[in-house]
Amino acid sequence: MRQAGRYMPEYRAVRERYSFLDLCKDADAAADVTVTAVERLGVDAAIIFADILLIVEPMGVGLEFTKGDGPVLHHPVRTAADVARMPEVDAPAAVPFVYDAVRQAKAALKVPLIGFSGAPFTLASYVIEGGGSRNYIRTKSLMYSEPEAWHTLLRRLTTAVVGYLNAQIAAGADAVQLFDSWVGCLAPDDYRQFVLPHMQTLIRGLTPGVPVIHFGTGTCGLLELMRQAGGDVIGLDWHIELDAGWQRVGHDVAVQGNLDPVVLFGPVEEIRSRTVRILEQARGRHGHIFNLGHGILPNTPVDHVIALIDMVHELSSR
Ligand code: CP3
Repeated sequence: MRQAGRYMPEYRAVRERYSFLDLCKDADAAADVTVTAVERLGVDAAIIFADILLIVEPMGVGLEFTKGDGPVLHHPVRTAADVARMPEVDAPAAVPFVYDAVRQAKAALKVPLIGFSGAPFTLASYVIEGGGSRNYIRTKSLMYSEPEAWHTLLRRLTTAVVGYLNAQIAAGADAVQLFDSWVGCLAPDDYRQFVLPHMQTLIRGLTPGVPVIHFGTGTCGLLELMRQAGGDVIGLDWHIELDAGWQRVGHDVAVQGNLDPVVLFGPVEEIRSRTVRILEQARGRHGHIFNLGHGILPNTPVDHVIALIDMVHELSSR
């Protein structure tokens, strides 16, 4: 999920020298942060240090990361006219630093490297709301009242994401992950009508042969639809038991998950018993990627994260 971040002292030290966006845009530094996290943690794969909002910045949304408040987009897209005015983004040309970071990280790593992007719905939610949101009122309002503008916006984002991920793959990403982090706010009918067709277009547009991890949170009501949308791996969060979630998406796809990241704040014995539970539910089947159900939170004890990784290696060794 996330690897580098504010919970890690090495990352905080780098952040004293760079703002978050400057760090993302400096390929040497971003590659270094990626590799340092892998070395510190001992994980089996790396995820490139970047952010889902980098690809929407060239759309003129006025992206800023303000301390403590998360991302702010100063020029949100809220009406059909705003959508019509949005510039098309030539993803392979617009964010060269991401691809350079992928190339450099790949050259330095001994484990596979995961590239990633936000999925169109989650990107649209930031672009429309102008930041994070609790109820997604503006996002859903555009969907319900201006469906054509909604679909135009999602088509634009889909095209950009396809170009963005294929360029990461060309630069050396071994797998790609689509973060549809906030799609769980949707009713199944809304997902079917306003998201599913775009996800299908997106996933069909990706370079064949590269595994696609399709991730969301709060998606217990959407798992079958996410499966229908596509992906070789479906992300599960902790609101569902791993075996029940796997049953629902089908054993012919892989699953990723699903430890609650907040468990890492508890004692190591508790982390261990929950890890054992998840691995028991996977029953040694092929196609389970042990992971957190969502990203690591600031202030998570690093020694607990390392203890978790060590215990997964110990308990799942064949
Ligand atoms: O190297 C890695 O491990 C990559 C990590 C990574 C980041 N962003 C770095 C980051 C990943 C996978 C992302 C994706 C991302 N960005 C998502 C999807 C993942 C998810 O958790 O669902 C989302 C929703 C975003 C948007 C975003 N960027 C948010 C909500 C925030 C947090 C704001 C805050 O202050 O808490 C960010 C900032 C961000 N992205 C940080 C990091 C390490 C913290 C910024 C800092 O250093 O101050």
